[in-house]
Order: sequence, then C-alpha cells, then structure tokens
Amino acid sequence: MSFLKPSVLGVLLLAASCRNGDRHPEPMNARPEPGRVAALYFSTEVSGYIEPCGCTSEPLGGLPRLAAVIRASKVPHALVDAGNLLFPAEGLDAATEEQHLFKARLLSRVYRDLGAVALNLGRSDLLGGMKLLKEIQHEGAFPLVSANVRPVGDGVPSVARSFIREVGGIKFGLTGVARPESFAGSELVTAIEYAPVLRAELSRLKEQGAEVVVLLAHVEEADARELARLLPELDLIVRAPGSPITRPPSPPFRVGGVIVSEAGSQGQHAGRLTVRLLGPRAPGPLAFDDAGYAQARELELTERKLTALRRALEASSKSEGGASQDERRAQIAKLEARRQALLVPEPPRSGSSLRIELVALSKDTPSDPMVEKLLSSYYAQLKDMNLEKGDVRPCAPLPEVAVYVGSAPCQECHEDAYAFWQKTKHAKAWATLEDANKHFDLTCIGCHTIGYQKPGGFCRLADVSGRKDVGCEMCHGPGSLHVEDSDPSSIVLESSEGTCMKMCHVPEHSDRFNYQTYLREVTGEGHALSAAGP
Ligand code: HEC
Ligand code: HEC
Ligand code: HEC
Repeated sequence: MSFLKPSVLGVLLLAASCRNGDRHPEPMNARPEPGRVAALYFSTEVSGYIEPCGCTSEPLGGLPRLAAVIRASKVPHALVDAGNLLFPAEGLDAATEEQHLFKARLLSRVYRDLGAVALNLGRSDLLGGMKLLKEIQHEGAFPLVSANVRPVGDGVPSVARSFIREVGGIKFGLTGVARPESFAGSELVTAIEYAPVLRAELSRLKEQGAEVVVLLAHVEEADARELARLLPELDLIVRAPGSPITRPPSPPFRVGGVIVSEAGSQGQHAGRLTVRLLGPRAPGPLAFDDAGYAQARELELTERKLTALRRALEASSKSEGGASQDERRAQIAKLEARRQALLVPEPPRSGSSLRIELVALSKDTPSDPMVEKLLSSYYAQLKDMNLEKGDVRPCAPLPEVAVYVGSAPCQECHEDAYAFWQKTKHAKAWATLEDANKHFDLTCIGCHTIGYQKPGGFCRLADVSGRKDVGCEMCHGPGSLHVEDSDPSSIVLESSEGTCMKMCHVPEHSDRFNYQTYLREVTGEGHALSAAGP
C-alpha cells in the first residue's frame, strides 16, 4: 500500500467514510458463514458530548444515533471507549459544572444500556471527582479499565487492569492505558509508565484464553505506533486522539500486524470492529478487512486523474499534434476501465478476519426514540438547574462604561437598520435555541445572546431580558450611553472579521463562515448600505 500525504488522506477519508455505508452490503439471503462473529463498537474522545449543537451545516453525532446504530447490529456486540468520555478536556467552570455532572450521569447511563464492557480512564473522566465515578458504578455496571492509572485512597471506583469479555463466543482481552504525563499534578490517581505493566497484562490475558486483544489507549499517535511495535501480540489499538478540535477520524493503519484506529471526537463517528473467526484463532495477525477504504481511496485518485487528463486533452486539442492526443486517449480508456472495476464493491472477505468501519453519525442515521426521550428530559430539567445559576460579579457595570440595553431601544432612532436586522438570522438566534428546548443550556447561550458574562451584561439566565438574540450590541458594543446622548462617538461603528470569528463564528460552530459572504447577509438596505455596495 502506498502512503499518501496526510492532507490528501484527510480528504480521501471523507469520501471513504461517505461511501462506507454501502461498500460491503451484507448479502441478504446468503447462508450465514460458519464460525463466530462479534462486533465491538468503539468511541474515542467523546468529551461529554451527548448531541451536536446543531450550529453547523451538517451536524454529526449524538447518543440517539449511536444507540440506533448499535441496536441495529445484526451480530452479537459490545461497546468500548478509549478515554475522555465524560467531560470536555478543557475542564469545567463554576457555572456549567452542575450541568456537566448531570450530563455525565446521562452519558454513563446510555453507555451502560448500550452494553459498555470496557471504558479506559482518561484525564478528563476525573473532572467530576472520584465520588461521582463511584456513584455511577453504584448505579450499575460502568467497567473502568486501566493498566497504568490507579485511583488513590478509600471510597474510590474500581478500575480493573484488564479483563476478558466474551462476545458472540469470541474471547476479547481488553485493557487500557493513558499517558502518565496527562495526569501530572492529579491527587486522585497515580499514573505510571505503561509499557512494562502492559506487557504483564497481555500475558495474563493470553493465559486466560483471550483470542482477540484490544488496547484502549489515550496516547499520542507516535506512542501508539511504538506500542504496536513493542507488543505485536495486540490485534487492535483504539486510540483516543486527545485533541478537543473536531475533525474526521484518521483512517485505520497497520504497524506490523497491529491495527491502530480511532473514531474521532465528540461522538461524531462510531467505530466498529467486526471480528470473524472460522475455527480456533490461529497464531499471527488476522487478515485485515478495511471495509473498502483502500478501494474508495483508489477510486477517488483514479477519478481525479481522469478529470485532469480530460481537461488536458481538451486544452491541447487545438495546439498539439495527434500523437500526444492519442496517448492521452489511451490513458483515459485505461483509467476508465479501472474506474468501472473499482465501482464494484469487493466481496466481503471469507475466512477469519478483522474489519474496521468508521460510521459517520449523520442526519441520515436513524435515531433511537428511547435515548431521544432521555435527552429531552435532560434538557427539560436544565431550567430549574440553571435559571438562577451564575456568579453575578463579572456582570457588574463598570463606572463610566456603557451597559447592554438590548436591541429594542435602538429601533426608535434607527428604524430602517432595525427592520433590516429583524430579517437576518441574528434576530432568530434565540429562537433556534428555544425551538430545540436548549435555551437553558448554559453552554449554548454565549453566542446566541448579547452581553453574556460581560460587564454591564447578564450572568444569570433569569436576567437575560432584552438581550436575547445576536442583537445590535454584539457588533456595535454596549449602547446605554449612546441611547442617552445619540452621539456617534459613543457607539462602535465597525465590527471586523476578527470579532466575528473570535466571538462566535469559530470553525466548530460555523463551518462555512466567510466574512465577505456573511457580511452581505447582515448589512444591506437600511443598515450600512455602503458596506454592502450595489
Ligand atoms: C435617541 C436616538 C438614538 C438611539 C436610541 C440610538 N441611536 Fe444610534 N445614532 C443616533 C444618531 C443621531 C446617530 C448619528 C447619525 C449620523 O451621524 O448620521 C447615531 C449613530 C449610530 C451609529 C453610527 C456611528 C458612527 O460612528 O457613525 C451606530 C452604529 C448606532 N447609532 C447604533 C445604535 C445602536 C446599536 C443603538 C441601540 C443600542 C442606537 N444606535 C440607539 C441616534 C440614536
Ligand atoms: C461559540 C459560539 C456558539 C456556541 C457556544 C453555540 N453556537 Fe449555535 N451557532 C453559532 C453560530 C456562529 C451559528 C451560525 C452558524 C452559521 O450559519 O454559519 C449558530 C447556529 C445555530 C443554530 C442554527 C443553525 C441553522 O441551521 O440555522 C442552532 C440550532 C444552534 N446554533 C444551536 C446551538 C446550541 C444548541 C448550542 C449549545 C449546545 C449552541 N448553538 C452553541 C455559534 C454558537
Ligand atoms: C452582525 C453585526 C451587526 C449587527 C448585529 C448590527 N450591525 Fe449595525 N453595522 C454593522 C456593520 C458591519 C456596519 C457597517 C460599518 C461600515 O459601514 O463600515 C453597521 C452599520 C450600522 C450603522 C451606521 C450605518 C447606517 O446604516 O446608518 C447603524 C446606525 C447601525 N449599524 C445600527 C444598527 C442597529 C440599530 C442594529 C440592531 C437593530 C445593528 N446595527 C445591528 C454590523 C452590525
């Protein structure tokens, strides 16, 4: 297999994961193959996400979709996680902490219902404290695993070093590790160098009859490669990518006979390992079935080459002689034949194999109604939890500095600008939250209101009043002084690209943001016509 530049790979993966769904359709009426089959679903770096926020053009992820995918599994299955499941890696703040703890309980309940059999302990999983993890385990199975991270003291949750779980008659050996450095300064756990302890765990698992060994790892990619080289007895390393930045998961790769895979972040994708064993597990690596990734990648490259060649042929038709044109035509015919062959999905592998798929949880994925109900009840409870919550001190007005008055007072003198603004999406920013019943979710309101947690703004939802929506003062700054004196110098005129992008239109929430295009939508007749231009 040839190795592509990472940038190319990223683009291709998108194509591969889109096509992935129908690459290898299960033959409908085929007799089931003999042998044992099991699926292990895996998530990585979920970071406390139960649903996408819905800000972007194609929001991915969410527990209802994950549940629907897992429950539709035709083969015996289980669920594992590689760490940082419960909380965002960047930590919790005082205002949102209670909501995050509540959400962590919801997440763990859904994972339990979906058959979670091993959850690797990552740094952010500790953010709710050991007591929370202990309580979650008290409510039912929450099988934490780590070969190198151990809780300190009494009354701590139990964390196994490794265990065997039988799924579909296949004995999976499961263990976990995390970078010790990521726990530096934590008083809740001790984290030691993992390579030696892991070696011991793996031989224990083998002694206990593990047939397929999976390591859940919260480590850097280079460390995962190193582990794969050191421990060829592993079958799969599920690696949590560690970064909170959203991006599609990288395709699985092999180091010797060990597969390394991840499922991206924020629960946007579900990884699926399908193991098929005909007869007893033979020594040596299992055949790797990449669910059509390599084929999809080749198809993509072939199509690009074809497009380039066809363009070159067109461009050259006048200027060049016949010989080079014939050569191009022959090349095109050859590539076209290859393309046709690549359009036919490879048949599923027969024999023992290990297959990895990365399923994008998109709007085309079904949604599990039971989990949807759990989420609705979560949002419904946020009102009582959050309405009065928040430290009001940061919102105290500063002397001589304007405060946020909302957009209504501007209407009196700027009738046209106001009328124009009302037709923009900014004027519906609060309604989009309300429609989804998410207007009591403290992680949403900062960008869908004005003056949140700012001096002269509001710090508690109970005090939002006229500051709903992305009103005039989001771009023009707090307006109380200007409303009183009508002096142009007491209000900000310009708002720059930097402001939009720093405050709200970050890639995670506004994937298609383009300053010039968006600016035309929010300024126009009656509102800075000059900026829009004819
Ligand atoms: C009582 C009347 C009045 C109210 C209320 C008012 N303005 Fe103005 N505003 C003015 C006047 C008068 C000007 C100057 C117009 C001119 O120079 O053509 C102005 C100018 C502006 C300008 C242009 C500043 C510049 O440097 O050219 C902006 C922006 C603006 N107002 C925003 C707002 C916003 C936002 C609000 C609500 C928070 C608001 N105004 C409320 C009267 C008002
Ligand atoms: C960092 C700022 C930010 C945060 C935090 C944020 N949003 Fe948004 N949201 C945006 C921006 C910007 C847009 C407009 C995106 C665009 O059109 O490019 C948007 C748009 C939306 C839309 C409308 C999408 C559409 O199709 O018109 C919904 C719904 C939404 N957000 C919900 C939420 C929810 C729910 C949360 C909390 C879980 C949230 N947002 C948190 C910035 C944010
Ligand atoms: C998304 C950001 C944004 C919002 C929201 C916004 N404005 Fe503006 N506003 C601008 C920009 C950008 C300009 C143009 C500055 C320039 O011409 O360089 C402008 C210009 C103006 C001007 C001066 C030009 C004119 O049209 O007279 C006024 C007055 C004004 N805005 C009032 C308002 C009022 C009132 C509201 C709320 C109803 C509002 N703006 C909401 C960004 C915004």
